[in-house]
Amino acid sequence: MFVLAINGSPRIGGNTDLLLEETLRGARSRGARTEKIVLNSLSYSPCQECERDNYDSPCIVQDDMHLIYARVRDADAIVLGSPTFFGSLSAQTKMMVDRFQCAWFSKNKRGRDFFSREKNCAFIAVQASQKQEYFAGARTVVRNLCATINGVYRDELFCPGLDEKGSSLKHPEFMQRAFDLGERITTVNS
Ligand SMILES: Cc1cc2nc3c(=O)[nH]c(=O)nc-3n(C[C@H](O)[C@H](O)[C@H](O)COP(=O)(O)O)c2cc1C
Repeated sequence: MFVLAINGSPRIGGNTDLLLEETLRGARSRGARTEKIVLNSLSYSPCQECERDNYDSPCIVQDDMHLIYARVRDADAIVLGSPTFFGSLSAQTKMMVDRFQCAWFSKNKRGRDFFSREKNCAFIAVQASQKQEYFAGARTVVRNLCATINGVYRDELFCPGLDEKGSSLKHPEFMQRAFDLGERITTVNS
């Protein structure tokens, strides 16, 4: 089983990063092979809304998104992590999500599925405030992405009250829940 983590935070060693690492540790404890993509280290543009008629590859824009497409195609499970930025996903994360529009178009308008392999998906989000509605808004976007890539939205971990870099380490309950999520994502398949 291949578990892919996608980190939408710009902070290496930040709260999202630490929680995702713990999640992958949980997945590895169940024998999974794991990989983490840090979106902020990649070079990719926002969706150009080309709406071309005949998709034969995920996207005509040639940039690092194609690394992500390849990994998403191979993954048995995906854990997406993002901090809340201005009540939503980070720009890095949303920009990646939008670049799956080609897959949405192909799947829903052409009946061709680039990401046909079913995969378990989970969403981890962190933020400073306690406002649950921010998480709910971000969840809707992530659910839409999952529907586009044949991901089954199975799990989530929302961690409010985290602001300073590394503050998730002061919340062992969040770290434990991240580890547990990593274990679960490898086993839940129905
Ligand atoms: C640009 C920016 C926007 C933010 N917007 C919000 C927000 O709307 N609500 C909130 O609770 N926290 C907000 N925060 C705080 C981050 O969500 C918080 O510091 C989080 O723990 C960062 O996670 P990270 O360490 O994984 O990057 C914002 C931080 C930044 C840098």
